[in-house]
Amino acid sequence: MDLSRAAAEALDAADPLAGFRGRFAGAGEDGLLYLDGNSLGRMPLATPATLSRVVEEEWARGLVGSWSQWIGAATRIGDALGTGVLGAAPGQVLVGDSTTVNLYKLLVAGAASRPGRDVLVCTADDFPTDRYVVAGVAEARGMTVREIEADIDQGLDLEVLAAGLDERVAVVVLSLVAYRSGALADVAEVTRLVHESGALLLWDLSHAVGAVPVDLDASGADLAVGCTYKYLNGGPGAPAFLYVRRELQEELRSPIQGWFGQRDQFEMGPEYVPAEGIERFGVGTPPVLGMASVEVGAALVAEAGIETLAAKGRAMTDLIVALGDAWLVPEGVALASPREASRRGSHVTFAHPQAWQLTQALVDRQVVPDFRTPDRVRLGPAPLYTRFVDVWDAMARFREILTDRSYEAFPAERARVT
Ligand SMILES: Cc1ncc(COP(=O)(O)O)c(C=O)c1O
Repeated sequence: MDLSRAAAEALDAADPLAGFRGRFAGAGEDGLLYLDGNSLGRMPLATPATLSRVVEEEWARGLVGSWSQWIGAATRIGDALGTGVLGAAPGQVLVGDSTTVNLYKLLVAGAASRPGRDVLVCTADDFPTDRYVVAGVAEARGMTVREIEADIDQGLDLEVLAAGLDERVAVVVLSLVAYRSGALADVAEVTRLVHESGALLLWDLSHAVGAVPVDLDASGADLAVGCTYKYLNGGPGAPAFLYVRRELQEELRSPIQGWFGQRDQFEMGPEYVPAEGIERFGVGTPPVLGMASVEVGAALVAEAGIETLAAKGRAMTDLIVALGDAWLVPEGVALASPREASRRGSHVTFAHPQAWQLTQALVDRQVVPDFRTPDRVRLGPAPLYTRFVDVWDAMARFREILTDRSYEAFPAERARVT
């Protein structure tokens, strides 16, 4: 690979997504080399106008009458996200609540639909909220958690997964893209193994949605949840989504019997009767403003096309890996992600004993990565608005702080948010 800056400029000149950069606030203006799009995506320029229309027209003038439009937003935006980004036909995706709450709802519903099976499976290295929810649900239902080992750099090994599956397993919770390393699971094989055991498969798509193709219907996935504030650029705390395969919807019941999951909601009936279809997984009044910004972000990703986004993600992370080999590895940094692009999402992680100090030194030089335990610096270029030269410049600054050892001046003690 040509590692010159000119080669990175040539990749930008040929980038079919180059036009999207100008549709995000700050990109190209704030001087930041923002490589944290997998934590909080940049703000689409269309978002403030959309929010102010919802606030000024629908709320301020339309008042309670606007509920006639708002009531359908969770499914309307869910369908747009499903068809445009997730490979899911309409009627299977709902927007609302947080990823954590959605995970809880689907995990309990899935476990209850597999009576006689008393084991929940997750990986020992999955995102904390996933492991905590699995542990809490298991405890409440008198089930056992089987945490299977997953390499923190290379991800899930299919043989290890297979060994952890049997007729006792009710639900398997897995991340499609591992939050720390970016390792991408083998969807076809994982689905085959989980289904062979008779269990349900619940994907956490938080680091995958908007970064890699997710063909939920085609892959035979059962259940999925995911964040919208990362590559979907829905904004801080934007409501999450959930997916329930159509054939399972009647069989599953949400454990939170809220009125937004109720059939004939405004009949105000005496008892809870779950709505038909995906709406039964609704809970309470949805966050209308947050959903409006999800709609803007999801539309941009759908417009760009997930295959094109994923191809650029692979090319950018390939460049990071190659520059890392050339510039960082000789300085004592190690690659902590799969080397082959086909096994990664859109982020790459490096290990170094002083990773937290390196993270602070990078931020000081206008490069924004994030730190992840135990000793990792995570770089998440976002194909919609990160350029190849941004990646090149960020890596050059990474090399600089290593060779001039300026990172040693930063505190070793960690901040509350890393
Ligand atoms: C993989 C994964 N799952 C779940 C979550 C938590 O989502 P929330 O805090 O919106 O519930 C995150 C947050 O970063 C995540 O990365």
